[in-house]
Amino acid sequence: KEITVIAAPFSGGQPRGGVEDGPDHLLKAGLLNQVRNLGWKTVGGSTDTGLTVMSFTKPPNDTDVGKMKQPRYVSNATQTLYKETAKVSKSGALSLLIGGDHSLAIGSVSGVFEAHPDACLLWIDAHADLNTPETTESGNLHGCPVSFLLGLAKSAEMEDSVFRWVKPCLATGRLAYIGLRDLDAGERAFIREYNIAAYTMHHVDKFGIGRVVEMALDRINPDKARPIHLSFDVDALDPIYTPATGTPVRGGLTLREGCYICEAVAETGALVGMDLVETNPALGSTDQAIQETVSAGLSLVRCALGETLL
Ligand code: ARG
Ligand code: MN
Ligand code: MN
Ligand code: MN
Repeated sequence: KEITVIAAPFSGGQPRGGVEDGPDHLLKAGLLNQVRNLGWKTVGGSTDTGLTVMSFTKPPNDTDVGKMKQPRYVSNATQTLYKETAKVSKSGALSLLIGGDHSLAIGSVSGVFEAHPDACLLWIDAHADLNTPETTESGNLHGCPVSFLLGLAKSAEMEDSVFRWVKPCLATGRLAYIGLRDLDAGERAFIREYNIAAYTMHHVDKFGIGRVVEMALDRINPDKARPIHLSFDVDALDPIYTPATGTPVRGGLTLREGCYICEAVAETGALVGMDLVETNPALGSTDQAIQETVSAGLSLVRCALGETLL
Protein backbone atom coordinates (compact mmCIF):
# COMPACT_ATOMS: atom_id res chain seq x y z
CA LYS A 1 0.00 0.00 0.00
CA GLU A 2 2.00 2.94 -1.30
CA ILE A 3 0.69 6.38 -2.14
CA THR A 4 2.02 9.70 -3.41
CA VAL A 5 0.08 12.89 -2.76
CA ILE A 6 0.24 15.59 -5.42
CA ALA A 7 -0.88 19.03 -4.26
CA ALA A 8 -1.90 21.30 -7.12
CA PRO A 9 -2.62 24.88 -6.06
CA PHE A 10 -4.28 25.84 -9.32
CA SER A 11 -7.33 27.96 -10.10
CA GLY A 12 -6.91 28.73 -13.82
CA GLY A 13 -9.85 26.57 -14.93
CA GLN A 14 -12.38 28.93 -13.40
CA PRO A 15 -12.65 32.60 -12.42
CA ARG A 16 -12.92 32.51 -8.60
CA GLY A 17 -9.78 33.08 -6.53
CA GLY A 18 -9.08 30.90 -3.52
CA VAL A 19 -9.37 27.37 -4.91
CA GLU A 20 -5.56 27.39 -5.23
CA ASP A 21 -5.52 27.47 -1.39
CA GLY A 22 -7.48 24.23 -1.13
CA PRO A 23 -4.43 21.93 -0.97
CA ASP A 24 -2.76 24.00 1.74
CA HIS A 25 -5.86 23.83 3.94
CA LEU A 26 -6.27 20.07 3.40
CA LEU A 27 -2.60 19.47 4.21
CA LYS A 28 -2.62 21.71 7.30
CA ALA A 29 -5.69 19.84 8.54
CA GLY A 30 -3.56 16.69 8.61
CA LEU A 31 -4.16 14.86 5.34
CA LEU A 32 -0.76 13.15 5.18
CA ASN A 33 -0.88 11.81 8.73
CA GLN A 34 -4.45 10.63 8.31
CA VAL A 35 -3.37 8.73 5.21
CA ARG A 36 -0.41 7.21 7.06
CA ASN A 37 -2.60 6.23 10.02
CA LEU A 38 -4.62 4.07 7.65
CA GLY A 39 -1.49 2.02 6.99
CA TRP A 40 -0.41 3.64 3.74
CA LYS A 41 3.25 4.24 3.05
CA THR A 42 3.66 7.76 1.68
CA VAL A 43 6.42 7.41 -0.88
CA GLY A 44 8.25 9.48 -3.46
CA GLY A 45 7.30 13.03 -4.21
CA SER A 46 9.66 15.96 -4.38
CA THR A 47 10.52 15.72 -0.68
CA ASP A 48 10.50 11.93 -0.38
CA THR A 49 7.84 12.26 2.29
CA GLY A 50 5.22 11.22 -0.23
CA LEU A 51 4.18 14.75 -1.12
CA THR A 52 4.79 16.81 -4.23
CA VAL A 53 3.62 20.42 -4.12
CA MET A 54 3.40 21.68 -7.66
CA SER A 55 3.79 25.29 -8.69
CA PHE A 56 2.32 26.93 -11.73
CA THR A 57 3.11 30.17 -13.50
CA LYS A 58 0.69 32.16 -15.62
CA PRO A 59 1.94 32.55 -19.16
CA PRO A 60 1.84 36.10 -20.53
CA ASN A 61 -0.74 37.10 -23.16
CA ASP A 62 -3.02 34.17 -22.43
CA THR A 63 -5.82 35.34 -24.69
CA ASP A 64 -8.97 33.30 -25.21
CA VAL A 65 -8.85 30.54 -27.82
CA GLY A 66 -12.37 30.32 -29.17
CA LYS A 67 -14.47 30.39 -25.99
CA MET A 68 -11.74 28.88 -23.81
CA LYS A 69 -10.48 31.14 -21.02
CA GLN A 70 -6.83 30.97 -19.88
CA PRO A 71 -6.19 28.08 -22.28
CA ARG A 72 -2.38 28.19 -22.15
CA TYR A 73 -2.30 28.38 -18.36
CA VAL A 74 -4.60 25.36 -18.05
CA SER A 75 -2.81 23.44 -20.78
CA ASN A 76 0.65 24.02 -19.28
CA ALA A 77 -0.50 23.20 -15.74
CA THR A 78 -2.32 20.04 -16.72
CA GLN A 79 0.52 18.86 -18.94
CA THR A 80 2.98 19.24 -16.05
CA LEU A 81 0.56 17.44 -13.75
CA TYR A 82 0.10 14.69 -16.35
CA LYS A 83 3.83 13.99 -16.38
CA GLU A 84 4.06 14.00 -12.60
CA THR A 85 1.02 11.74 -12.21
CA ALA A 86 2.24 9.29 -14.87
CA LYS A 87 5.53 9.00 -12.99
CA VAL A 88 3.73 8.22 -9.73
CA SER A 89 1.37 5.74 -11.35
CA LYS A 90 4.16 3.94 -13.17
CA SER A 91 6.01 3.57 -9.84
CA GLY A 92 3.03 1.49 -8.72
CA ALA A 93 1.88 3.93 -6.04
CA LEU A 94 -1.66 5.21 -5.78
CA SER A 95 -1.76 8.78 -7.04
CA LEU A 96 -3.82 11.19 -4.94
CA LEU A 97 -4.33 14.64 -6.45
CA ILE A 98 -5.58 17.41 -4.21
CA GLY A 99 -6.73 20.56 -5.98
CA GLY A 100 -7.27 23.07 -7.15
CA ASP A 101 -10.05 23.24 -9.72
CA HIS A 102 -11.38 20.30 -11.71
CA SER A 103 -9.59 21.19 -14.96
CA LEU A 104 -6.64 19.48 -13.23
CA ALA A 105 -8.25 16.12 -14.02
CA ILE A 106 -7.17 16.53 -17.64
CA GLY A 107 -3.66 15.95 -16.27
CA SER A 108 -4.27 13.54 -13.41
CA VAL A 109 -6.53 11.17 -15.34
CA SER A 110 -4.22 11.27 -18.39
CA GLY A 111 -1.30 10.37 -16.13
CA VAL A 112 -3.05 7.53 -14.31
CA PHE A 113 -4.43 6.11 -17.58
CA GLU A 114 -0.97 6.12 -19.14
CA ALA A 115 0.14 3.63 -16.50
CA HIS A 116 -3.26 1.85 -16.38
CA PRO A 117 -4.73 2.07 -19.90
CA ASP A 118 -7.50 -0.39 -19.00
CA ALA A 119 -8.76 1.71 -16.08
CA CYS A 120 -12.28 3.05 -15.67
CA LEU A 121 -13.32 6.44 -14.31
CA LEU A 122 -15.91 7.26 -11.65
CA TRP A 123 -16.74 10.99 -11.74
CA ILE A 124 -18.58 12.19 -8.63
CA ASP A 125 -19.89 15.69 -9.23
CA ALA A 126 -22.94 17.96 -9.39
CA HIS A 127 -21.68 18.74 -12.91
CA ALA A 128 -20.68 16.56 -15.85
CA ASP A 129 -17.65 18.72 -16.80
CA LEU A 130 -18.25 17.37 -20.30
CA ASN A 131 -18.37 20.60 -22.30
CA THR A 132 -16.14 20.89 -25.34
CA PRO A 133 -14.40 24.10 -26.38
CA GLU A 134 -17.38 24.45 -28.76
CA THR A 135 -20.26 23.75 -26.37
CA THR A 136 -19.00 25.52 -23.23
CA GLU A 137 -21.27 28.37 -22.21
CA SER A 138 -18.91 29.79 -19.56
CA GLY A 139 -15.55 29.25 -21.27
CA ASN A 140 -14.25 27.93 -17.93
CA LEU A 141 -12.09 24.90 -18.53
CA HIS A 142 -13.04 23.21 -15.24
CA GLY A 143 -16.34 22.54 -17.03
CA CYS A 144 -14.54 20.67 -19.84
CA PRO A 145 -12.02 18.06 -18.61
CA VAL A 146 -14.07 14.96 -19.45
CA SER A 147 -14.53 16.05 -23.08
CA PHE A 148 -10.76 16.29 -23.44
CA LEU A 149 -10.24 12.85 -21.91
CA LEU A 150 -12.86 11.34 -24.25
CA GLY A 151 -11.58 13.23 -27.28
CA LEU A 152 -14.94 14.87 -27.98
CA ALA A 153 -13.59 18.23 -29.08
CA LYS A 154 -13.91 18.68 -32.83
CA SER A 155 -10.53 17.98 -34.37
CA ALA A 156 -10.46 21.26 -36.28
CA GLU A 157 -10.61 23.13 -32.97
CA MET A 158 -8.07 20.83 -31.35
CA GLU A 159 -5.56 20.69 -34.19
CA ASP A 160 -4.07 24.11 -33.71
CA SER A 161 -5.16 24.32 -30.12
CA VAL A 162 -2.86 24.62 -27.15
CA PHE A 163 -4.27 21.28 -25.91
CA ARG A 164 -2.73 19.24 -28.72
CA TRP A 165 -0.69 17.27 -26.17
CA VAL A 166 -3.81 15.62 -24.70
CA LYS A 167 -4.29 12.09 -26.01
CA PRO A 168 -7.84 10.89 -25.54
CA CYS A 169 -7.41 8.02 -23.08
CA LEU A 170 -10.98 7.30 -21.99
CA ALA A 171 -13.70 5.31 -23.79
CA THR A 172 -17.29 6.41 -23.22
CA GLY A 173 -18.11 2.93 -21.87
CA ARG A 174 -15.59 3.31 -19.06
CA LEU A 175 -16.99 6.50 -17.56
CA ALA A 176 -19.75 6.72 -14.96
CA TYR A 177 -21.14 9.76 -13.19
CA ILE A 178 -22.81 9.93 -9.78
CA GLY A 179 -24.40 13.00 -8.20
CA LEU A 180 -25.29 15.00 -11.30
CA ARG A 181 -27.86 17.81 -10.95
CA ASP A 182 -26.65 20.75 -13.04
CA LEU A 183 -26.07 19.92 -16.69
CA ASP A 184 -25.67 22.17 -19.71
CA ALA A 185 -27.64 21.38 -22.88
CA GLY A 186 -24.55 20.21 -24.76
CA GLU A 187 -23.58 17.88 -21.92
CA ARG A 188 -27.02 16.29 -21.84
CA ALA A 189 -26.81 15.70 -25.59
CA PHE A 190 -23.41 13.95 -25.28
CA ILE A 191 -24.60 11.75 -22.40
CA ARG A 192 -27.54 10.59 -24.55
CA GLU A 193 -25.56 10.30 -27.78
CA TYR A 194 -22.84 8.12 -26.22
CA ASN A 195 -25.10 6.38 -23.70
CA ILE A 196 -22.76 7.35 -20.85
CA ALA A 197 -23.57 5.80 -17.45
CA ALA A 198 -24.97 8.84 -15.66
CA TYR A 199 -26.58 8.57 -12.23
CA THR A 200 -28.17 11.84 -11.20
CA MET A 201 -29.54 12.78 -7.78
CA HIS A 202 -32.87 11.46 -9.07
CA HIS A 203 -31.34 7.98 -9.32
CA VAL A 204 -29.75 8.30 -5.89
CA ASP A 205 -33.19 9.15 -4.45
CA LYS A 206 -34.91 6.38 -6.38
CA PHE A 207 -32.51 3.45 -5.87
CA GLY A 208 -30.40 4.51 -2.90
CA ILE A 209 -26.66 5.08 -3.02
CA GLY A 210 -25.81 1.38 -2.53
CA ARG A 211 -27.59 0.27 -5.70
CA VAL A 212 -26.37 3.30 -7.66
CA VAL A 213 -22.71 2.53 -6.97
CA GLU A 214 -23.30 -1.11 -7.83
CA MET A 215 -25.03 -0.19 -11.11
CA ALA A 216 -22.35 2.36 -12.01
CA LEU A 217 -19.51 -0.11 -11.45
CA ASP A 218 -21.41 -2.86 -13.31
CA ARG A 219 -21.64 -0.60 -16.35
CA ILE A 220 -17.98 0.39 -16.53
CA ASN A 221 -16.30 -2.59 -14.89
CA PRO A 222 -18.56 -5.62 -15.41
CA ASP A 223 -15.81 -8.22 -14.88
CA LYS A 224 -14.41 -6.33 -11.89
CA ALA A 225 -10.98 -6.57 -13.49
CA ARG A 226 -10.30 -2.92 -14.20
CA PRO A 227 -8.32 -0.48 -12.08
CA ILE A 228 -10.46 2.46 -10.91
CA HIS A 229 -9.79 6.19 -10.91
CA LEU A 230 -12.11 8.18 -8.63
CA SER A 231 -12.47 11.87 -9.48
CA PHE A 232 -14.34 13.57 -6.63
CA ASP A 233 -15.52 17.18 -6.92
CA VAL A 234 -16.53 18.32 -3.43
CA ASP A 235 -19.54 20.11 -4.95
CA ALA A 236 -21.09 16.66 -5.47
CA LEU A 237 -21.97 16.87 -1.79
CA ASP A 238 -24.79 19.13 -0.73
CA PRO A 239 -23.57 22.66 0.11
CA ILE A 240 -24.69 21.95 3.69
CA TYR A 241 -21.53 19.82 3.93
CA THR A 242 -19.20 21.53 1.45
CA PRO A 243 -20.21 25.21 1.27
CA ALA A 244 -16.72 26.46 0.44
CA THR A 245 -16.68 25.65 -3.27
CA GLY A 246 -17.00 27.67 -6.45
CA THR A 247 -20.13 26.26 -8.06
CA PRO A 248 -22.36 24.91 -5.26
CA VAL A 249 -25.68 23.34 -6.26
CA ARG A 250 -28.37 22.54 -3.72
CA GLY A 251 -29.93 19.10 -3.49
CA GLY A 252 -26.72 17.12 -3.41
CA LEU A 253 -25.28 13.99 -1.82
CA THR A 254 -25.20 13.71 1.94
CA LEU A 255 -21.80 13.39 3.55
CA ARG A 256 -22.60 9.73 4.25
CA GLU A 257 -23.59 9.08 0.61
CA GLY A 258 -20.30 10.60 -0.52
CA CYS A 259 -18.38 8.54 2.02
CA TYR A 260 -20.30 5.42 0.97
CA ILE A 261 -19.17 5.84 -2.64
CA CYS A 262 -15.57 6.08 -1.47
CA GLU A 263 -15.94 3.11 0.90
CA ALA A 264 -17.44 0.99 -1.88
CA VAL A 265 -14.54 1.87 -4.17
CA ALA A 266 -12.07 1.04 -1.40
CA GLU A 267 -13.73 -2.37 -0.97
CA THR A 268 -12.99 -3.24 -4.62
CA GLY A 269 -9.27 -3.01 -3.86
CA ALA A 270 -8.86 -1.60 -7.37
CA LEU A 271 -8.34 2.11 -6.69
CA VAL A 272 -5.26 3.42 -8.51
CA GLY A 273 -5.93 7.16 -8.60
CA MET A 274 -8.08 9.75 -6.89
CA ASP A 275 -8.73 13.47 -7.32
CA LEU A 276 -10.22 15.64 -4.59
CA VAL A 277 -10.95 19.03 -6.14
CA GLU A 278 -12.78 22.35 -5.88
CA THR A 279 -12.24 23.05 -2.17
CA ASN A 280 -12.18 26.87 -2.10
CA PRO A 281 -11.41 28.21 1.39
CA ALA A 282 -11.98 31.79 0.20
CA LEU A 283 -15.64 31.06 -0.42
CA GLY A 284 -16.59 29.90 3.08
CA SER A 285 -18.76 32.57 4.66
CA THR A 286 -17.45 31.68 8.13
CA ASP A 287 -14.44 29.85 9.54
CA GLN A 288 -16.77 27.01 10.40
CA ALA A 289 -17.95 26.76 6.78
CA ILE A 290 -14.34 26.46 5.62
CA GLN A 291 -13.47 23.94 8.28
CA GLU A 292 -16.50 21.78 7.52
CA THR A 293 -15.68 21.72 3.81
CA VAL A 294 -12.08 20.74 4.52
CA SER A 295 -13.03 18.05 7.00
CA ALA A 296 -15.65 16.61 4.62
CA GLY A 297 -12.93 16.40 1.95
CA LEU A 298 -10.60 14.62 4.35
CA SER A 299 -13.36 12.14 5.24
CA LEU A 300 -13.84 11.32 1.55
CA VAL A 301 -10.11 10.68 1.13
CA ARG A 302 -9.92 8.48 4.23
CA CYS A 303 -12.95 6.45 3.17
CA ALA A 304 -11.47 5.89 -0.30
CA LEU A 305 -8.25 4.72 1.36
CA GLY A 306 -9.94 2.11 3.47
CA GLU A 307 -11.22 3.77 6.63
CA THR A 308 -14.26 1.88 7.90
CA LEU A 309 -16.76 2.73 10.57
CA LEU A 310 -16.18 -0.38 12.60
N1 ARG B 1 -21.24 23.45 -16.51
C1 ARG B 1 -20.69 24.68 -16.01
C2 ARG B 1 -19.58 25.17 -16.95
O1 ARG B 1 -19.30 24.59 -17.96
C3 ARG B 1 -20.19 24.52 -14.59
C4 ARG B 1 -19.00 23.61 -14.43
C5 ARG B 1 -18.58 23.45 -13.01
N2 ARG B 1 -17.44 22.58 -12.90
C6 ARG B 1 -16.79 22.30 -11.78
N3 ARG B 1 -15.72 21.54 -11.87
N4 ARG B 1 -17.15 22.78 -10.61
O2 ARG B 1 -18.98 26.18 -16.68
MN1 MN C 1 -5.88 30.35 3.49
MN1 MN D 1 -18.85 20.34 -9.90
MN1 MN E 1 -16.24 19.12 -11.37
